[in-house]
Amino acid sequence: MCGIAGYLGKRKASPILLDAVRRLEYRGYDSVGIATLHEQRLSVRKAVGNVEEVDKKLHFAEMPGNVGIAHTRWATTGKVTDENAHPHLSNNGKIAVVHNGIIENYQELKGFLQKNGYTLKSQTDTEVIPNLIEHHMKRKSLKQAFLETLRQLEGTFSIVALDEGSGTILGARHNSPLVLGLARDGTYIASDVSPFIEATKKAVLLEDDEAVILDNKLEILNFRTGKPVRKKIFLMHWNYEQAKKGDYEHFMMKEIDEQGSTIKKAVQQDAKLMKKAVSMVKKAFGVFLVGCGTSYHACVSASYVFSHIAKKHVNVVLASEFENHREFLTNKTLLIALSQSGETADVLEAVRIAKDKGVKIIAITNVVSSTLTQLADETIMMNCGPEICVLSTKSYTAQLAILTALVYGLAGKLEAGKKLVLQAAAKVPDIIRDSTPKIKALASKIKDSRSIFLIGRDMAYPSALEGALKIKEVSYIHAEGFAGGELKHGTIALIEDNVPVIVLATEHTKKEILANAMEVKARGGYIIGINSRQDDVYDYFIEVPEAGMANPILMIIPIQILAYYLAIERNLDPDKPRNLAKSVTVK
Ligand code: M6R
Repeated sequence: MCGIAGYLGKRKASPILLDAVRRLEYRGYDSVGIATLHEQRLSVRKAVGNVEEVDKKLHFAEMPGNVGIAHTRWATTGKVTDENAHPHLSNNGKIAVVHNGIIENYQELKGFLQKNGYTLKSQTDTEVIPNLIEHHMKRKSLKQAFLETLRQLEGTFSIVALDEGSGTILGARHNSPLVLGLARDGTYIASDVSPFIEATKKAVLLEDDEAVILDNKLEILNFRTGKPVRKKIFLMHWNYEQAKKGDYEHFMMKEIDEQGSTIKKAVQQDAKLMKKAVSMVKKAFGVFLVGCGTSYHACVSASYVFSHIAKKHVNVVLASEFENHREFLTNKTLLIALSQSGETADVLEAVRIAKDKGVKIIAITNVVSSTLTQLADETIMMNCGPEICVLSTKSYTAQLAILTALVYGLAGKLEAGKKLVLQAAAKVPDIIRDSTPKIKALASKIKDSRSIFLIGRDMAYPSALEGALKIKEVSYIHAEGFAGGELKHGTIALIEDNVPVIVLATEHTKKEILANAMEVKARGGYIIGINSRQDDVYDYFIEVPEAGMANPILMIIPIQILAYYLAIERNLDPDKPRNLAKSVTVK
């Protein structure tokens, strides 16, 4: 879950790499480091902190040289220390390596290296890599030593290495993303396309077990077989403007605001593709929906539409638990995998398990170049542009939009489904404009709460789960979402005077959910109603128009805004919550 990058070309490498780690920072911000090569000498600067903090101390852009590699870390193996920050050097100081992923057999490899006289200075798994390359270079060329090293590694990895002797950049991937950018000024290599979208639209998407040797020419080969691989050039459509904050203070608010248009874009899919997806669902005997975090909540939400509109049973499973369902998979099963990034390790693992059993895969993702798109039989793109904030906001409503349309398609009413979603999308700007002042005031009132609870019934239940995730991950206030009827089976014991309880009510559920709200109010709870109509039980009311099956798309918006302002009230950075990373590429 780190961001890695490399550059070799005509320009000074360090400012390019500094910009690259800024753009990749959403993947982790525990520590940062850059290595460049100048006059045949490698130099490394690295330290704990986010990019801005570390750059203030180390002045990365001063580092000379036209070739270099860079890293921004989300710690997995080894604590957050300067020593554990990447790049890591081989014992002779001639090979520098940055790595994203986990080397599962690193203890064994470390033992091997120690027996051969190597000293490992950090607690990371990564440090074995430059040392193995150094070791193999005693008998082999750089290229062969690199390939030999890659074959020894078990786990998940994308790697970029830099050799002092030749100035060569070496890269490889196995279950972790890595892409190349072919620009006029030079060649870029990175965890995603963001570091080079201004320099070039031409990308090469590496696949698992592919390695890159980059010096005055570019060679791509399969590191297991050692055979060259011919790759297509992929033309990217994203532009850098979409990945900039513009006039916004934070990406989170920008991305919340964009939803009026992103929901529309998500639902306007190619008709043929939607028909194909509908027919795959129809033909399937057993349909699974998998995802993690917010994407999982979109699966739960969609399962209600499957039930109400298409009368179709679907199995919703957390991607990390999917392997326990292995026995139910056949070549007639369909797996619908949701992932904004398309790189979430648990989702990819679920897809691989399914593929082994002959299961067909539909991916719903936002990243064209992602691994998920490479594994799926059909991919429906969310089309919502880069989501930079660690919190999923616009990708959630895009997922709901696509799945709602798909289910209506299954019931033979694709156009009606699209219309419903488009009507909901049209209401988003008004909801944001009208509710924001009230929500700001609410955030200031409840900012010191120890806990916030959310309840909803039917389709508002997954909205309560998602709302709780939004609030807790960005404000660090404990938040839990429940089905309306469930709170009184235990958690109501936590309700005392002024504990905020957000009640998500719809026309269809209002009778019962308002009764649940009364139960909470009777115990002192402070009731915040999100509903199309005011009610006496509410202490605070935020209006959201009724949208039928599209209710979840609208209901989540005020909670996203509340989560944002809770973070602001508590002086937290909404774009980079502690301990999190945007793309969770480890299991
Ligand atoms: O990229 P994915 O959709 O696969 O990511 C899944 C989760 O990691 C993600 O939704 C996470 O829960 C977010 N922090 C939620 O805001």
